[in-house]
Amino acid sequence: MSAILPPVERVWWKQPFDRAELLWIVMALVWCLIMFFMMPYWHLYGKQNLANESYRTSAEQYSKLTEEMVSKYKVREEGGDLKVPVVHPPAGGDAYLIARLWSWYPILELEAGKSYHIHLMSMDYQHGFSLQPENINIQVLPGYDHVITVTPTHAGTYGIVCNEYCGIGHSTMTSKLYVVK
Ligand code: CUA
Repeated sequence: MSAILPPVERVWWKQPFDRAELLWIVMALVWCLIMFFMMPYWHLYGKQNLANESYRTSAEQYSKLTEEMVSKYKVREEGGDLKVPVVHPPAGGDAYLIARLWSWYPILELEAGKSYHIHLMSMDYQHGFSLQPENINIQVLPGYDHVITVTPTHAGTYGIVCNEYCGIGHSTMTSKLYVVK
């Protein structure tokens, strides 16, 4: 039977494969297998995949850790009346970021060339952490502390946008991340 035309026989599944159809199935299967084995390969040798961990936690516990970090390492406030604290956590340490309807808290200031454990968690619904223009994208879920270990390489001001639709204020759910020398 042809791979392009509709089946002539009503009981089409008892007909032999057309050569072209079989060729496409084999090609698709081989490509699937190549991509399947590329996943662990890219994780070890590529730069696409972040080394991340996630732990079950609660909103209370997570916001307590965040507030502790903010009170210890706050360097200034930004955002006019909103007064969002800018926090400069110690290099090699933990940096907590809270996602909620519809803001990020606090603003992190990191040092280039130093590594950090950035923690992400949502206090309510699912959000998306998208760091621009680096294009690092991570799902932010309630109940899970998602930890990524990163070493920022270039100083500058990066944008954080929520890239998971989370309601009426979704488009305003933006923030910044500073990387200083
Ligand atoms: Cu948070 Cu969209």
